[in-house]
Amino acid sequence: MPNPAPYDAIVLGAGGAGLMCAGVAGQRGRRVALIDHNDDPGAKILISGGGRCNFTNSEAAADRYVSANPHFARSALSRYTAADFVAMVDRHGIAWHEKTLGQLFCDGSARQIVRMLLDECPDSVTHVMGRAVRSVDHADGVFRVETDGGVFTAPKLVIATGGPSIPKLGATGLAYDLARKFGLKIVEPRPALVPLTLPGDEALFQNLSGVAVPVVARCGPTAFAEAALFTHRGLSGPAILQISSYWRHGQDIAIDFLPDTPAQWLTDLKRAQPNATLRRVLSAMLPDRLAVALAERLGAGEALGQTRDALLAEQETRLRRWTFRPNGTEGFAKAEVTIGGVATDGLSQRDLSARHLPGLHVIGEAVDVTGWLGGYNFQWAWASGWAAAQGL
Ligand code: FDA
Repeated sequence: MPNPAPYDAIVLGAGGAGLMCAGVAGQRGRRVALIDHNDDPGAKILISGGGRCNFTNSEAAADRYVSANPHFARSALSRYTAADFVAMVDRHGIAWHEKTLGQLFCDGSARQIVRMLLDECPDSVTHVMGRAVRSVDHADGVFRVETDGGVFTAPKLVIATGGPSIPKLGATGLAYDLARKFGLKIVEPRPALVPLTLPGDEALFQNLSGVAVPVVARCGPTAFAEAALFTHRGLSGPAILQISSYWRHGQDIAIDFLPDTPAQWLTDLKRAQPNATLRRVLSAMLPDRLAVALAERLGAGEALGQTRDALLAEQETRLRRWTFRPNGTEGFAKAEVTIGGVATDGLSQRDLSARHLPGLHVIGEAVDVTGWLGGYNFQWAWASGWAAAQGL
C-alpha cells in the first residue's frame, strides 16, 4: 500500500539515540522527521565526559548493563559494536584516546560527536528543533504527532526522548507517558549513576568533603574498584556512582579502604613497626584527613605493639568493610542516567519495536537498559538507535 504520510518515520528526541536512528534510517532511504523541544540537538552529549564525551567503551557487552532482562541488550550491542562507532569517529577524522578501563574520549570536544551525527543525516532527515510535543496519537496505521510547529504523520514512530535525569537539560518523562498510552509497561524509574547522601550521624565523614581515595565499593554481591569521593552531603566518585545503580533504600554500602593490602596487614605491621600507630600507617597510604578520621572512629590511639592481635584484626576487618547506610540519593537533578524505564518484555530485541504495535519503537535511555559509568550508556544509545533504524 502506498504511504500517504509525508514521512516514513517520526523520531521523537534528538539526543544520542534519536540522532543515530534518524541518520541511519535516512541513509536507508527513509524520510524522517526528527523532533525535539530543545533548540539544539544532543544536549547531554555536549556536557558529557567533562566536555570531551566518553562516547563508548571498548568492553561494552550486555553484562555491563542493568535491566530486568539482563540479556535484552545483547542483540543490538552485538550488531552495532563499540568498534563500529569508533570506525565512524575515525571516518570523520575525530581524534580520540582511551582514558582508563576501555573508556574512549574525544581529544578535542564533544561538539565533534554532535557534528558527526548531524553530518551523518542525509537530506531526507528533517530536523524539527525547538518544538514542544502537544499530542501523539495512532489510528489506521498512522502516527500523528502534533507540535507547536505543526502536525507530523508517519506509519512509524520512534520514542527516543530519554529518561527524566537532569531536567534542566530538557529531560522529561514523555517516553513513559507515551509508552503507557500505547500499552507498554514501565519498570519503576530511579536515579542512577548518582551521588548517595548520608544521614547527619555520619558527620565526621561529611567533614572530609573533597577527599578522594581508591576503594572497592560493595552493595550485595556487586563490587566496583574505583575512586570514591566524600562530599558535603555524602559519597560520590566513580565507585559510588557505579554502585548507586545497584543500591536500594535500606541497603548498606560497604567500602574497602585497603583494597591493595594483603590479608593480616595490621598484625604483620605490628611485628615490623611496633611503635607505629594506626593513624600513622593509614596516613602513609590514605589522604591524611581520612586516615585521622578512620583512626579516631576506630578508637585507635596506642602503638600497634601495645594492641592485642584480636583488636588489630577487628580494626582491619572494619577498614575492609566500612559500612554506610545512605538515606537517599541526590535525585534526578544530579543523576547521570535513569535506571528502569520502558519494560523490555514488550519490545523486540532485534529492532526495539513494540510486540503488539510493530510501527512503534523505543530506544536509548527510555528503555529499561542502563549501562555502567564509562561510555556504556552512549554505546546503548548508538546500538539501540541503529537497531531500530533497521526496522524503519
Ligand atoms: P537523551 O536524554 O540524550 O535525549 C533525549 C532527547 O529528547 C533530548 O534531546 C530531549 O531534549 C528530548 N526530549 C525529552 N523530552 C521531550 C519532550 N517532552 N518533547 C520533545 N523532546 C523531548 N554516557 C556515556 O556513555 N558517556 C558519558 O561520558 C556520559 N556522560 C554524561 C554526563 C552527564 C552530566 C549526564 C547527565 C549523562 C551522561 N551520560 C554519559 C549518559 C548519556 O548522556 C545518556 O545515557 C544518553 O544521552 C541517552 O541518550 P538518549 O538519546 O536516549 O536520551
